[in-house]
Amino acid sequence: EAPIRKICCIGAGYVGGPTCSILALKCPDIQVTVVDRNELRINQWNSEKLPIFEPGLEEIVKQCRGKNLFFSTDMVPALKEADLIFISVNTPTKTFGLGKGRAADLKFVESCARLIAEVCDRSKIIVEKSTVPVRSAASIVNVLKANTKPGVSYQVLSNPEFLAEGTAVNDLTNPDRVLIGGEESDEGRKAIDALSWVYHHWVPAEKIIKMNTWSSELSKLAANAFLAQRISSINAISAVCEATGADVSEVAKAIGLDSRLGPKFLQASVGWGGSCFQKDILNLVYISESLNLTSVAAYWQQVIDMNEYQKTRFGQRIVQAMFNTITDKHIAILGFAFKKNTGDTRESPAIYVAKHLLEEGACLHIFDPKVERAQILLDLDQSDEKTGVTIHEDPYEAAKGTHALVICTEWDQFSTYDYQRMYDSMLKPAFVFDGRKILNHSALSEIGFHVETIGKRPGESFQAQNWGGANNV
Ligand code: NAD
Ligand code: UDX
Repeated sequence: EAPIRKICCIGAGYVGGPTCSILALKCPDIQVTVVDRNELRINQWNSEKLPIFEPGLEEIVKQCRGKNLFFSTDMVPALKEADLIFISVNTPTKTFGLGKGRAADLKFVESCARLIAEVCDRSKIIVEKSTVPVRSAASIVNVLKANTKPGVSYQVLSNPEFLAEGTAVNDLTNPDRVLIGGEESDEGRKAIDALSWVYHHWVPAEKIIKMNTWSSELSKLAANAFLAQRISSINAISAVCEATGADVSEVAKAIGLDSRLGPKFLQASVGWGGSCFQKDILNLVYISESLNLTSVAAYWQQVIDMNEYQKTRFGQRIVQAMFNTITDKHIAILGFAFKKNTGDTRESPAIYVAKHLLEEGACLHIFDPKVERAQILLDLDQSDEKTGVTIHEDPYEAAKGTHALVICTEWDQFSTYDYQRMYDSMLKPAFVFDGRKILNHSALSEIGFHVETIGKRPGESFQAQNWGGANNV
């Protein structure tokens, strides 16, 4: 008999939405209901225009919605009916109180546990999908136990999500691994087996890794810390390149060919962003400090500090190259999302760069293929477009009449634009600051642009040979 027939997921965000859509697609025998208290978001999931842009997702939602995939604000019946409940709510950095600015705020996770205990009258499996500090499952168990109705019991599992935005459909369909952590008891093992049965609908058994709860929780924080650390490391090397004449693309290629290191996540950039890296490393730093592991905390803090340094360096370089003043100069920012193929701007380095340029008195012309106008204004604390920020729907309009182009996101289409056309419409000398190393710098120099990029000395970019894809390590 099927151990799980109905699943409820609390949180219809970047994780809950795509994860449950794939789950519904791959498990026609399971009914999946995603609930959220945000009515607008639920309405969007039920509409033609989904609340998030994720390549390939729309088709899947359309295929499953109304069949075995439902989005609802009516949480209580969905929770009561479910055999298994995913908690997939946001766990942001605390903004006040103990651990402010570093610790993860578990108030949403806790309120889910309280609601479950209050309304459910039969035993269930509760799965912690949100990224949480190590030992959070123990807190969930505590809250559940203290409020559970008579005769009801819960098994709490840790099942962190490793999808990256922009590639979520593929990451969920072909995951490198699925972690399931649970209690080391008969009941615990039974719950682990039930969740593993769900994944086994499409994930091969050898990729479903069972472990103890704390290892599973910590593995998620550790994985994000390692990934961000690689980018911070190559970004640190990019500063050395700029000071010496080495080229960070060449160095990254050389490093990545070592099979022990591998080529991925070595792309030097204006800095890493996104909703996860900063929050999760801060969380790891906070946990380490709380455990009196001060050297460990200081070590991981450096990964964040290096990222701040990189963003600052890039902003300063723009001002310095443009004769130390950008007051009243017009600058086009191409790309506002934190990475390509998403409309998400959380912790986007573009926000930092734009704010820096605004502080220096520049007028900004911003274009991004997917980010909504209102989101850009919100991120820049602007109430309207009168105060130095104009948002464009066309990259050529954004470039027109400006002194400089600043690339902040690695959208593929940016490398296919007609830069001659942009150059002709710009003020001279015309500058390009490529914060993502995606453009053909020698071609731009030939057009007449002054090109500056990460990890290469200014002015030398056009001397180097363009070896195509090799720039995109
Ligand atoms: P999100 O902000 O996009 O979505 C969270 C949703 O939960 C929101 O819609 C919110 O309204 C809802 N919510 C919060 N409290 C609720 C409550 N008590 N009842 C009902 N709904 C509630 O967040 P996200 O990006 O999906 O991230 C969710 C979790 O997954 C976080 O812990 C995050 O660290 C982790 N994660 C995110 C990613 C990613 O790429 N975004 C990847 C892996 C893991
Ligand atoms: C990350 C993790 O990759 C994912 O496993 C986890 O579940 C959530 O956090 P995400 O933040 O969506 O995913 O995107 P990711 O591809 O990791 O990129 C993060 C940031 O690093 C982006 O700003 C990206 O542009 C930047 N980056 C990435 C670089 O600057 N250089 C690189 O080589 C790779």
